[in-house]
Amino acid sequence: MTRPRTRTAILISGRGSNMMALVEAARRPDYPAEIVGVVSNRPDAAGLVWAAEHGLPTAVVNHRDYPNREAFEADLHAALLGLGAELIAQAGFMRLLTAGFVAKWDGRLINIHPSLLPSFKGLHAHEQAIAAGVKIAGCTVHFVTAEMDAGPIIAQAAVPVIDGDTPETLAERTLKAEHQLYPAALAAIAGGHARLVEGRVANRMTVNQQAVLLSPDGA
Ligand code: GRF
Repeated sequence: MTRPRTRTAILISGRGSNMMALVEAARRPDYPAEIVGVVSNRPDAAGLVWAAEHGLPTAVVNHRDYPNREAFEADLHAALLGLGAELIAQAGFMRLLTAGFVAKWDGRLINIHPSLLPSFKGLHAHEQAIAAGVKIAGCTVHFVTAEMDAGPIIAQAAVPVIDGDTPETLAERTLKAEHQLYPAALAAIAGGHARLVEGRVANRMTVNQQAVLLSPDGA
């Protein structure tokens, strides 16, 4: 008996290149997740246009329309339930979510961050990596907890930092790794190979699902 595909919603705030990578991966009939819709907190997110053009339901829950986080998150939660989402993938979603919201989606809310966590949390991760002088940078897919970028790590990809890199060149190289890692990590979760058990990742992932290593040219 084939396992039903996990109904997955994507949260974005911007251009949505990681969203595109997940949507493209989910076109494969054997991919264990189905993308059921895209929700943005910003009405001007470019990724919304792409999603609509590709036939996906889209919704905007604009945080500026709400007096506080709880009211915003109540509507966000309702929008996700309206899509029938079982799993949420944040892809460049630029809002911090409260402990109350996170608890409702415990073990079913994941994010990608453009650093090798626990290093370089928060904004400007590439600038932080270059300033620290690290030679290996990368990206991390993790379960979301109430503490920013601190949830249990599911998978990581490494990219080299090259002499003369700027935040922009490092971001471009890292993004290629993100587009490989996120679909692999989502497949592992949707396929039941990785899950959150008592705050830790119980893992039956393949090496390729949990670690991606890119060469300097991103190949
Ligand atoms: C990515 O680098 C992601 O890791 C970070 O924000 C960026 C979003 O890019 N959280 P995109 O919108 O997916 O193109």
